[in-house]
Amino acid sequence: MSKQWWKESVVYQIYPRSFMDSNGDGVGDIRGIISKLDYLKKLGIDVVWLSPVYESPNDDNGYDISHYKKIMDEFGTMADWEEMLEEMHKRDLKLVMDLVVNHSSDEHGWFVESRKSKDNPYRDYYIWREGKGGKEPNNWESVFSGSAWEYDETTEEYFLHLFSKKQPDLNWENPKLRQEIYDMMKFWLDKGIDGFRMDVINFISKVPGLPDAPNPDGNTYASGHEYFMNGPRIHEFLNEMNQEVLSHYDAMTVGEMPGVIPDEAVLYTGEGRNEVNMVFQFEHMDVDSGPGGKWDVIPFDLVKLKTILTKWQTELHGKGWNSLYWNNHDQPRIVSRLGNDGEYRVKSAKMLATLLHLMQGTPYIYQGEELGMTNVRFSSIDEYKDIETLNMYREKIAQDMNPDEIMHSIYVKGRDNARTPMQWNSTEHGGFTEGTPWIAANPNYIDINAENALNDPDSIFYYYQNLISLRKEHEIIPYGTFELHYADHPSVYAYTRAYGNEKILVLCNVSGEQQVIEKVDSFDVTKADVLITNEEHLEKDAFTLLPWEATAYYFRG
Ligand code: NOJ
Repeated sequence: MSKQWWKESVVYQIYPRSFMDSNGDGVGDIRGIISKLDYLKKLGIDVVWLSPVYESPNDDNGYDISHYKKIMDEFGTMADWEEMLEEMHKRDLKLVMDLVVNHSSDEHGWFVESRKSKDNPYRDYYIWREGKGGKEPNNWESVFSGSAWEYDETTEEYFLHLFSKKQPDLNWENPKLRQEIYDMMKFWLDKGIDGFRMDVINFISKVPGLPDAPNPDGNTYASGHEYFMNGPRIHEFLNEMNQEVLSHYDAMTVGEMPGVIPDEAVLYTGEGRNEVNMVFQFEHMDVDSGPGGKWDVIPFDLVKLKTILTKWQTELHGKGWNSLYWNNHDQPRIVSRLGNDGEYRVKSAKMLATLLHLMQGTPYIYQGEELGMTNVRFSSIDEYKDIETLNMYREKIAQDMNPDEIMHSIYVKGRDNARTPMQWNSTEHGGFTEGTPWIAANPNYIDINAENALNDPDSIFYYYQNLISLRKEHEIIPYGTFELHYADHPSVYAYTRAYGNEKILVLCNVSGEQQVIEKVDSFDVTKADVLITNEEHLEKDAFTLLPWEATAYYFRG
């Protein structure tokens, strides 16, 4: 397995709208980010993944781009952006930009042209079809509810949008469109960025003919996943992108790929395949979803989680590369989801960090995770802003579902849990803005904030700092093999890593009760050093795990 800087790096994701507002308009911005770079440097991360900052009408908070080479006014100017990049590089921080090219905004110039007439030169930049018997061209459902097709009166045809109707899908079958994308990628790489995070990149190749999806339940619309996830030309497109663009730069690439399995991930990320460096997959994020999908909340099953993460650890080892994450701007906060966001918030957040960061892969920290920020519970749906959440709410209300039940699923799964303002200090709105924030702050900013964390040597922040520096000191962390122990234990997550003559044993208690487990035979912890722990009381037997304990032991030789 080759050694690469991006295998040894830790990435920090910034969701710019909610990170730091410098001008009091209630929306985070680029100058706000610049003001917090020293904070990020102190944490020790290497790479910033910046969610979209391009011009956008913000139907999906920047994931609907109306101009790929311009900066959104609310976020600042190109000069601000250039200064930010320079300030990052001065601090030896790399910048990975979001590349959203499965779709654009319907306000993008290409789409404005495309919808004008059937013979417009931009018509084939998007996916247009005639209706079938007065209905949509097929039965695919949008990820954001309802049909994935929108009728357009001007030309009396429908266009495809896998996400909102303001996010028309781009037509990757068209070589001219692909060249436009490659030119745009070069534009940013030539400005000096260090890579791309590629939004739903495994959706760009659709099965020709766009067939109806199986619909055993007889619903109006059905998921057409198998016709656009990992589609027939996906490897060809990524390979071409690599040849035309990426191979000319030392860039890090991470493909967001819902529905990918390890065998496919090896094809996307294998050395010599020249596609992307790593996948960002979701299998472990679906553990608390029932048969009804994301909003059908079921309890987290640790054994299932272990099975999934172990499969990714072992099946990619030496063959491909994965991202390690608990949070991003689309996921609820992990300490609320899998830990304890009350009495054991600090301890369980540290345990979850240990569990993840000592595995193989490139770790991602989502803003506020290093503070143990928690989910939010707004009392009214009117306080929510996310299009996915609001569309789902409207659809379920129309189906007569009980509003309390819907609110419950939003509390557990809604994307706005991740999007409340970053909590910098205990002043109003957590110090995020001097104006009115675009989304309300979580009221717990009074206690949970960066200022408090920086003043407390035992904080989650310093624990992450420690984990990040351990990854740099010990090659076993990025490169060692992985073995799971106690696979069927419902509350203990334990694994070992091995590399040359070094070993690490990681013992985590994913519960609020003490757990006593049998000794792992080959490990005599009396001969080991404690690599990291969230526990003050280690004068006990190592295989008795206190509530939410995480302790990692390091063995040399
Ligand atoms: C995945 C992004 O992470 C999410 O925020 C967005 O809504 C969809 N892709 C559509 O771009």
